[in-house]
Amino acid sequence: MNIRDLLTSKVQQAMLSAGIPFQHQPLVAASKKSGFGDYQANGAMGAAKAMGTNPRELAQKIVGQLELEGIAEKLEVAGPGFINIHLDKTWLGEQLASAQSDPRLGIAPVQQPDILVVDYSGPNLAKEMHVGHLRSTIIGDAVARLLEFQGHQVIRQNHVGDWGTQFGMLIAELEEQLGEEREAGMALQDLEVFYQQAKQHFDRDSAFADKARDYVVKLQSGDPGVLELWREFTRISLTHSTEIYQKLNVLLTEADVRGESAYNDDLAPLVAELEQQGLAVEDQGAKVVFLDELADKDGNPSPVLIQKQGGGYLYATTDLAALRYRAQQLGAQRILYFIDARQSLHMQQVFTLARKAGLVSEDVSLEHHAFGTMMGADGKPFKTRTGGTVKLAQLLDEAVDRASALVAEKNPELSEAERADIGRKVGLGAVKYADLSKTRTHDYVFNWDTMLSFEGNTAPYLQYAFTRVQSIFRKSNTDPSTLTGDILVATEQEHALALKLLQLSEVLDQVAKDAMPHLLCTYLYELASLYMRFYEACPVLRSDVRPQVRASRLRLCHLVAQTLATGLDLLGIEVMERM
Ligand code: ARG
Repeated sequence: MNIRDLLTSKVQQAMLSAGIPFQHQPLVAASKKSGFGDYQANGAMGAAKAMGTNPRELAQKIVGQLELEGIAEKLEVAGPGFINIHLDKTWLGEQLASAQSDPRLGIAPVQQPDILVVDYSGPNLAKEMHVGHLRSTIIGDAVARLLEFQGHQVIRQNHVGDWGTQFGMLIAELEEQLGEEREAGMALQDLEVFYQQAKQHFDRDSAFADKARDYVVKLQSGDPGVLELWREFTRISLTHSTEIYQKLNVLLTEADVRGESAYNDDLAPLVAELEQQGLAVEDQGAKVVFLDELADKDGNPSPVLIQKQGGGYLYATTDLAALRYRAQQLGAQRILYFIDARQSLHMQQVFTLARKAGLVSEDVSLEHHAFGTMMGADGKPFKTRTGGTVKLAQLLDEAVDRASALVAEKNPELSEAERADIGRKVGLGAVKYADLSKTRTHDYVFNWDTMLSFEGNTAPYLQYAFTRVQSIFRKSNTDPSTLTGDILVATEQEHALALKLLQLSEVLDQVAKDAMPHLLCTYLYELASLYMRFYEACPVLRSDVRPQVRASRLRLCHLVAQTLATGLDLLGIEVMERM
């Protein structure tokens, strides 16, 4: 249990003993300023107001009932009725010691793991993965890692776009190019180029266009030859994405792919079911559901098109089928979607309709975790200089090149191999962290210089902080896992650092709940800054430091390093021994 939860339950008990009805929350939070204790319980004011009593007196009464022997060394009532909790330094030291000797840093897995589906990345296989998929891939992966670390059963779902009319054109083109003795891997080496070739072919050659249309029909009716071509196309396109996942240190594999095509057979029965329920109606030959729940301000219901006039199905139809599969087949209790904010209405429609049609039960949590757009320096969505979409693979290569140059400049002694390894970790870390550290729902400006800076809230700063801690162990020739003895929380800097270290699990809980990885970034940045303060004020290896103090500080250093490494790992960012 983390400190906040522990104090919350203690204060809640005290409130009950003080005669305060259960519905009043203890409102325990870490104190923002030193001098107000380590934590504050702020629930007395609200309770007093509701009960018509004096808040300071009520706070005092709660303090009288609070059983925190051995945990807190001082409790005081401040201001209009805040309860300031000063934690016991010996107790803090004990918590730190058990965290330092535990690979999970003292954070136990959740007692009741949930089955969670995380939907992220979802590139369109007809095209090359571009920067538009970067945010979903990075943020979704971080949250999935974190939920898994907490002990949940996480099922990753990569809902790739592998179905639809454009595939008719693409596989017709593939067939022609294969006929010219080109090998599929070669033809599809650059999907952007291939797409352009197919499109031009389609526009200038009407026989080819007819064939493309015919192939759409054949694909949908399961023609074996056409299916074979389609399989070849999607297989190769998927390897492009998989390469990017590996490069980016994103945990998605081909086993996580369950694309739009997987739901193909479910769509006709699903539409029939919605019609039977009286939800779907004919509208100019198409099938539509009108949702009053999402009516506009004039009261017009929100229309969801689920089948086109010609019989084709839509993005929403497939998402409904996917949602049902996830809830009913996979048994998910929470389904988290990491998709661009521009699809918010789509997700709202799908969620509302799915509930209404009983495809998911009420107790399943459906969550669209939307994010803003990645902007260029000009304040417009990120594009190439000529206005084209930026290929993800190119962007990542550039990140590694830039970071390698920077690393070489800072440390010319590194071997070629070391520089390449460090450049890769720093460059990719910088791109990921720049994205993760911004409030998810906002747009953000992509800027090489700020993300690669060794100062400020960046990946290189944190990676560097990690190497600085590690260098202490090299210098002193100590194996941190063999360190024993008490951890002493004596100085003000040790105290601040200790508290921060013990708050990791509170932060993880918050990120897991809100799917907001920037909270973890802020935490790591603050931790690194407190460490720097500690390091300046509290000598570790200096000869006049008593052995007991040195061992204690070394243990603190080690816990800092482990916390940074674990936190960055949950964000999908690697650390290194030196840089
Ligand atoms: N393929 C979609 C796109 O590129 C993203 C898929 C997101 N997931 C979903 N279940 N709709 O916009």
